Amino acid sequence: MVRPLLLKPQWMNGLSERLLVSHYVNNYGGALRRLNAIRARLAALDWMSTPTFEINGLKREELIAMGSVILHEIYFDSLGGYGSKPPTGLEEPTAKLARALERDFGSLTAWRAEFTAMAKALAGGSGWVILAWSERFGRLINHWAADHAHNLPGAAPILALDMYEHAYHLDFGARASAYVDQAMANLNWERIGARYRLAIGEDAEEGDLFLPYGAPPQQEAKISVEELKAALEDNDRRPVLLDLCLPGDLARRTDMLAGATLHAPDALPRWIEALPRDRPIAVYCICGFQVSGTAVNKLRERGYNARAVIGGITAWHAIGGATVPLNTSTYEEETS
Ligand SMILES: [Fe+2]
Repeated sequence: MVRPLLLKPQWMNGLSERLLVSHYVNNYGGALRRLNAIRARLAALDWMSTPTFEINGLKREELIAMGSVILHEIYFDSLGGYGSKPPTGLEEPTAKLARALERDFGSLTAWRAEFTAMAKALAGGSGWVILAWSERFGRLINHWAADHAHNLPGAAPILALDMYEHAYHLDFGARASAYVDQAMANLNWERIGARYRLAIGEDAEEGDLFLPYGAPPQQEAKISVEELKAALEDNDRRPVLLDLCLPGDLARRTDMLAGATLHAPDALPRWIEALPRDRPIAVYCICGFQVSGTAVNKLRERGYNARAVIGGITAWHAIGGATVPLNTSTYEEETS
């Protein structure tokens, strides 16, 4: 299943929405779709009669796709602001991780110098730079990964920096070094710190850290894009689709799910009347943050069977979901 973006792509520090969303949808989403396709092929394989080259090829591709999915999830989780706020570029590692970095690298500055130098050394090539906890060596290690399947055995990645050209080319051209500095100014140390505590076997007390900001936490108030896709293909379970978009965000939109109706969140008193009480309602926004989250809470308080689509239309794109051009004819003009 696709993991939603936790970062708000429209207001990162010097990394454009176009770059981040393209990376998430095409490269992360692409790896996930490839993995699912490979898994389906493997599940149908007759192990006794399949030629060895086919087994080798599929298992190799499966490992690469699994590595790509996991590393991209760590990468995107590691970036972003705090709550509804954009990253300032001045955030520091949380106390426990800071002490561990000082212990293992001498100082935070020394860790950062090594990590960024390693990333910049991959300019013009590809691969990952990974900060990982190694149980065997009892320390944090910065290690290089030549590809998605290359890692330090037994080590748990805490932070992964994508050095494939697709991670920066749209914004930085060949200036990989500028990308590295910019990515480092967008780190969400709370989530990286939680990942470290999990790696060393502690309770990360992660709470809402790994939930999109403003999304409803309770299971029954949300629906994954995979569940939504299946529900839309089943006439008996087909939900009413509601597309909510802030007026200022309309310019960021080009498409919508087929059959959805576009509304302004603030105009809820006007559009709520048209909603059926006897059918499930799936509400989505761009990334599944507070726009759909707030509306779903309000709808549920009023007794509607509404769910927020996890990850919004961006996650829908990442699973390769079909869309139609945005239809703004139902959108409310000025509501205040
Ligand atoms: Fe990537």
